Amino acid sequence: MEIHMSNLCMVYKTGKEALKNVNLQLKSPSLIGLVGPNGAGKSTLMKILVTRLLQTSGTVTVDGQKLYGNEKYIKNKLGYLPQDFGLYDELTVYNFLDYIAALKGLEGDKKNIIENIILDTNLMDKRNSKISTLSGGQKQRVGIAQAMLGNPELLILDEPTVGLDPEERINFRNMFSKASSNKIVILSTHIIDDVESICNRLIVIDKGTILFDGTPEKLIKNAEGHVATCIGESMADILVEKNFKITSRISTAKGLNYRIVGEVLPDGINLVSPSLEDAYMFLMLKEEVKA
Ligand SMILES: Nc1ncnc2c1ncn2[C@@H]1O[C@H](COP(=O)(O)OP(=O)(O)OP(=O)(O)O)[C@@H](O)[C@H]1O
Ligand SMILES: [Mg+2]
Repeated sequence: MEIHMSNLCMVYKTGKEALKNVNLQLKSPSLIGLVGPNGAGKSTLMKILVTRLLQTSGTVTVDGQKLYGNEKYIKNKLGYLPQDFGLYDELTVYNFLDYIAALKGLEGDKKNIIENIILDTNLMDKRNSKISTLSGGQKQRVGIAQAMLGNPELLILDEPTVGLDPEERINFRNMFSKASSNKIVILSTHIIDDVESICNRLIVIDKGTILFDGTPEKLIKNAEGHVATCIGESMADILVEKNFKITSRISTAKGLNYRIVGEVLPDGINLVSPSLEDAYMFLMLKEEVKA
């Protein structure tokens, strides 16, 4: 599958410009992490791709066909987890998935497919429980299960790991990674670890504009020489004033140990290798300076 977005703009009725001239090309197989602050435009972009929203201008094509007018083509190949999804509270987990399977027009051994996804998402013990009785993380897992049902070619997951405990987060990362071997998986997240551990492509968006599109390694490379650690009680004020960002502050026997990112760092400072989170913060800092 191949998706091309050209000059995509989205202006909501309120006048809010949520996407500004977005150009992206996606090709399977890939696992893409979509990252950006609250209100950046991540969900808007995803809603356009799943045809829940029509862009104000620009085009999206899927396998060479315009998405607008050919919605059915993508709907047959799509699994989608919306950020705020409503579940049918009165249905059991199994019955809900059975219902979704019918909506998707799932072919083959439907029962077996549903049982497998229940197993993969660790919901066996909740198979016959009403959705209303599940915890937040368990509901989220049902949401992921319904998106992955039927092994869709395009999987769009809007903050799939929200509310999951660390063990489940790792389980799902592995599932997404495995699933992406023959499809396009796009997941939005605020958790840099999610991206670092599985994504081969990272797209950073802020205020409707794509700031970065590339491998996580490339983003890290861009931040080399811009990350350092230093110790000092009064550093915090100086650092903020001079346009550095503090990414961590750890109390040690020698005093507070700061980790900082900045365009120009003070002389004699202890440079360290950037983590992906540092690199993301550095990118955001550069945008703030520009603004
Ligand atoms: N239906 C709407 N009407 C008007 N403005 C909207 C609507 N939906 C979103 N917006 C605005 O568009 C911008 C982008 O929103 P969007 O939901 O795409 O952000 P996001 O990156 O998904 O954020 P978050 O990380 O908080 O989920 C925000 O400023 C938001 O307030
Ligand atoms: Mg969102």
